[in-house]
Amino acid sequence: MERTFLMVKPDGVQRGLIGRIISRLEDKGFKLVAGKFLQISDEQARRHYAEHEGKDFYRNLVDFITSGPVFAMVWEGDDIIALSRQVIGKTNVKEALPGTIRGDFAAHTPHNLIHGSDSPESAEKEIANFFEAHELVRYEKTLAPWL
Ligand code: TYD
Ligand code: MG
Repeated sequence: MERTFLMVKPDGVQRGLIGRIISRLEDKGFKLVAGKFLQISDEQARRHYAEHEGKDFYRNLVDFITSGPVFAMVWEGDDIIALSRQVIGKTNVKEALPGTIRGDFAAHTPHNLIHGSDSPESAEKEIANFFEAHELVRYEKTLAPWL
C-alpha cells in the first residue's frame, strides 16, 4: 500500500472546491489518513518546491502557495502516486483533460488547484514537511479498495 501527499492549493480553497476535490479522491476509492487546514510558512513552501528552485516560475509559485490557506492531506491506496496524478490531470492546464480535477476546474497555470507527489521519495519528504507521524490515522476501511 502506497501513500501520497495531496494538497488543495490556495485557489481551490478560495473557490470553495475543497469538498468537490476530496469527493473525487473518495470516489476513486482512495483512503484518507490525514488532513489539516493551514497557512503554510515561506520556509515550508520553499522546502516543498525545492526541486524547482532556480526555475523562472519558482518565486511566483512560492508566493502563490503562501498566498492563503491550503488543505493538506495524506491518502493511501495501491499505486496511489500514479493514480492520483491521473485523477489530478496534467500540470499545464491547457493539456489537462476533461474528467480530471485540473481539466474540469482550472484555467491558469500555476493556479491548478491541487498538488500531488510524483514519486515515493517525494511523497515521504512532502508528508514529513507537513505532518508528524502521530497525525496519520491507522484504520481499516470496511470495503475492499476495489468496491
Ligand atoms: P511540477 O512539479 O512540474 O507540476 P505538478 O504540480 O503537476 O507536480 O510544478 C509544480 C507547480 O509549478 C505546478 O503545479 C505549476 C507550477 N509550474 C509553473 O507555473 N510553470 C511551469 O512551467 C511548471 C512546469 C510548473
Ligand atoms: Mg510536482
